[in-house]
Amino acid sequence: MTDLNIAVLGAGVVGVTTAVELQKRFRHAKIEILAEHVYEDTTSYVAAGVFRPGTSFCGPTQEITQKWINDSYTYWDEIRRSPEGARAGVTELSGYIFSSQHSQAVRNRYIEKLCPVYRAATEKELKLCPGNWKYGSFFTTVLTQSSYYIPWAINKFKSNNGKIIQKKIESLQEVGSYDVVVNCTGLGSRFLCNDYQVVPIRGQVIKVKAPWIKTFFYGDLDTYVLPGIDLVTLGGCRQYESWDLSVNKYDSLKIKDQCEALVPSLKGAEVISHKVGLRPHRGIVRVEKEILNTDSKKIKIVHNYGHGGYGVTTAPGTSLYACELVQEILSGNSKL
Ligand SMILES: Cc1cc2nc3c(=O)[nH]c(=O)nc-3n(C[C@H](O)[C@H](O)[C@H](O)COP(=O)(O)OP(=O)(O)OC[C@H]3O[C@@H](n4cnc5c(N)ncnc54)[C@H](O)[C@@H]3O)c2cc1C
Ligand SMILES: *[C@@H]1O[C@H](CO)[C@@H](O)[C@H](O)[C@H]1NC(C)=O
Ligand SMILES: *[C@@H]1O[C@H](CO)[C@@H](O)[C@H](O)[C@H]1NC(C)=O
Repeated sequence: MTDLNIAVLGAGVVGVTTAVELQKRFRHAKIEILAEHVYEDTTSYVAAGVFRPGTSFCGPTQEITQKWINDSYTYWDEIRRSPEGARAGVTELSGYIFSSQHSQAVRNRYIEKLCPVYRAATEKELKLCPGNWKYGSFFTTVLTQSSYYIPWAINKFKSNNGKIIQKKIESLQEVGSYDVVVNCTGLGSRFLCNDYQVVPIRGQVIKVKAPWIKTFFYGDLDTYVLPGIDLVTLGGCRQYESWDLSVNKYDSLKIKDQCEALVPSLKGAEVISHKVGLRPHRGIVRVEKEILNTDSKKIKIVHNYGHGGYGVTTAPGTSLYACELVQEILSGNSKL
C-alpha cells in the first residue's frame, strides 16, 4: 500500500476541520497539521461562534456560498445532536436581533430558511431590551465554542494518527514533500501567498461571567451579547485594516457601555478577560486549487482561507468543498 502525504497549514477552526475531514476521506493518508499558533493563540478562540453568516459573506457564486452555509449548518447540528455535542462545545441557542435603523439589518437571506426558527419579533419582544427598537427578529441557531471544539477535533485527529507540528512557515518551499498542501492560514495567507486581498478586520470583545443570560442579543453598531458554554461574549467592533492586537481601553469602554445599555443586568457581571482578534477578511473567500511551479518541483495546493467574521460558522462547508478539491487535484496521481 502506498502512502499519501498531506499537509494542512493552520490550526484554527478551518485547518482543524479540514484535517479531520481529510482523514475521513483518505483513510490511509499520512496527514500533518503545520501551524505557528495552536489552541488559544488562534483567532478562532476569540470568536463567540454563533452560527450567523453575515449577508456580505461571499463565495465564488451565490449557489456555492449557500451550499457552504447549508452544509455547515447540517454539520454543526449533527454534532450537536450526538452524544459528543457537549464535549465538542456545540449547542443550540436562540435570541434576538434588534435595529432602530433598518428593517434589512434584522433579516438574513442565508439562514431564514435554514434555521428551525427565524421570525419577526413581536411588539412585546421589541420591548424586551431598553432602546427604541423598531425592527427585530427572533431565531434559533447553533453555537460552536472553539475552546471546546478545537481540542475535541484535534484529539480526534491525533487518535487517527494525525500529527501536529508547531512551526512558522516562511515559504511554501520549506514545507517539505507532500502530495498536496492545504492552505488554511487565515490572515497568514497575506504573507505566505502574497494575497493582498486578505485584510484584517480587527475585533475586540469582553468575556464575562453572566450565567443568567440565556439568549443572545444583537443591537445596532456592532453591539452584541452572546452567551457561550461558560462565558458571555460582549462586543464589539470592526476595524478595517487594523493590525493592532493589543486591548484598546476606549474600545473596552464603548463595548461595556453599549452592551449594558442593551442588557442592563450585565452591570453585575464579573469580567474574565479582554480579547482581540483579526478577522481574516477576503471579498471572496478563497477555496481553490492551484499548482505552483517552483524551481525544483510542482506543488499541489488547495487554498481555504479568508472567512472574515464567519469562519466558525462556515468552516465545515468550506472544508468539505476543499476536500473535494484535494480529491480532484490528486486524481491522476498514481498514489491514489
Ligand atoms: C471578535 C471576533 C468575534 C468573532 N465572532 C465570530 C462568530 O461569532 N462566528 C463566527 O463564525 N466567526 C466569528 N469570528 C471570526 C472567526 O474567528 C474567524 O473567521 C476564524 O477564526 C478564522 O479561522 P481560521 O482557521 O481561518 O484562522 P485562525 O484561527 O486565525 O487560524 C490560522 C492558523 O494558521 C496559522 N498560520 C498562519 N500563518 C502561518 C504561517 N506562516 N506558518 C504557520 N502557520 C500559520 C496560525 O498560526 C493558525 O494556526 C470572530 C472573530 C473575531 C475577531
Ligand atoms: C439550503 O437550504 C435551504 C433550506 O433547507 C433550501 O431551501 C435551499 O434550497 C438550500 N440551498 C442549497 C444551495 O443547498
Ligand atoms: C497559500 O497559497 C499560496 C499560493 O497562492 C502560497 O504562496 C502560500 O505559500 C500558501 N500559504 C500557505 C500557508 O500555503
